[in-house]
Amino acid sequence: MYPNRRSNMSYAIVGFGKIGQALARAFARNNIDVSVASHRPPEALAPQALAIGPTVIAKSLRDALEADTIILAVPFAEHRNVAKARPSWEGKTVIDATNAFGVPPEELGGRPSSAFVATAFTGAKLVKGFNHLIAATLAADPRVEGGHRVVFLSSDDEDAIEPVATLAKQLGFAPVKLGKLNEGGALVHARGRTWGQLIFQDLFKKEL
Ligand SMILES: NC(=O)c1ccc[n+]([C@@H]2O[C@H](COP(=O)([O-])OP(=O)(O)OC[C@H]3O[C@@H](n4cnc5c(N)ncnc54)[C@H](OP(=O)(O)O)[C@@H]3O)[C@@H](O)[C@H]2O)c1
Repeated sequence: MYPNRRSNMSYAIVGFGKIGQALARAFARNNIDVSVASHRPPEALAPQALAIGPTVIAKSLRDALEADTIILAVPFAEHRNVAKARPSWEGKTVIDATNAFGVPPEELGGRPSSAFVATAFTGAKLVKGFNHLIAATLAADPRVEGGHRVVFLSSDDEDAIEPVATLAKQLGFAPVKLGKLNEGGALVHARGRTWGQLIFQDLFKKEL
């Protein structure tokens, strides 16, 4: 894959539904190359990719996964199938934009959903991010009212956050680093049918 015209990193979005297309708009707006892939063949995605912008290139899933940094924008349960599409994830960064809404916490072993996702992408650096805004908001220009819309980033791999923060800034967002997935990152995790319960429960316990 050729280096990106705005950086030497290459990017792909897996899942070209509401969130995938919203993120593709951010890449197109900033003239940053990005591959997009889904279940469907690239020919089926190409018209919509082109409609979003010339830097958005539809590819097969296998080809898209050649990118250095891959944004997961598939339904939560599908992360396993994406992970199986490569024999190794060594050297890759995965940005997890999924939310495990409605998934019973017991099914995740009580862990934050992104820690669960990370186990499927062995060898990759995983950063949770771009998951707290609804698709319509994520699709809109984040430069609003003289400021920049915030995105929250968290990871158990401290080195992994910085390059994703750089990407977020290139896309026009103001990244806020929350630290580890089960610490600050828990604030922006769905848990069952609620948000951030892990951290609020812990704070509440401390106050009791
Ligand atoms: N919608 C929101 O406002 C929102 C906000 C924050 C976070 N999220 C999270 O973002 C994720 C995506 O949500 P969405 O609303 O964008 O869903 P969506 O509109 O249903 O799109 C899902 C996309 O994933 C693709 N896909 C499914 N399984 C796949 C696989 N195994 N390999 C490759 N592509 C696959 C689908 O492909 P096909 O089109 O080919 O079927 C589709 O393009 C979810 O985890 C959700 O919780 C959503």
